[in-house]
Amino acid sequence: MSDGSVNPGRRNFLIGATTVVGTAGVVGVAVPFLGSFNPSARTLAAGAPIKIDIGKLQPGEILGPLRAWRDKPIFIIKRTEEMLAILNSRNERLADPDSDRLQQPDYAKNDTRSIRPEVLVLIGLCTHLSCSPKFRPTIQPQDFDANWLGGFYCPCHGSKFDMAGRVYSGVPAPSNLEVPPHYYESDSVIVIGEDGGVA
Ligand code: FES
Repeated sequence: MSDGSVNPGRRNFLIGATTVVGTAGVVGVAVPFLGSFNPSARTLAAGAPIKIDIGKLQPGEILGPLRAWRDKPIFIIKRTEEMLAILNSRNERLADPDSDRLQQPDYAKNDTRSIRPEVLVLIGLCTHLSCSPKFRPTIQPQDFDANWLGGFYCPCHGSKFDMAGRVYSGVPAPSNLEVPPHYYESDSVIVIGEDGGVA
């Protein structure tokens, strides 16, 4: 089974686009930081909240890694209906399926680990030794897992995370990928680094 609407070319395009975040005059690139909000590297490292426009993000795509809040890489994923339908179908494989280990704000402690079911916001650092996990959305056997349901794979030491960033049992990473504080300023703009008064 494939992941349907996922367009690998466009996905890679969006990932590549993040390397030119803030660059003026790039035609046709989904620049995620708002035009009027172009934070300096110092601002990002200091942990100031950032605003990211996800209006062009399509189901099955990832925006990131964005080196953004607290100078950490941010992943924003728009999950497909198929991804959501199977998300909690085999939770026995997970070490912390109910997200009890405080790796997310209270408003993301739910069965999708998100405010909106389809949009997942994560810090893209493996909770083992901080490598960058790879986005592996395809629901088909992988060389690291014959029963892969899509998610994130860390090639450094083989940790696996599901499509909500929840860690598998029996891998080196001890906990789920972290969800940063965030809220929606509008239908398409996410503010990362603040809770918007709802935490
Ligand atoms: S850093 Fe990811 S498995 Fe070790």
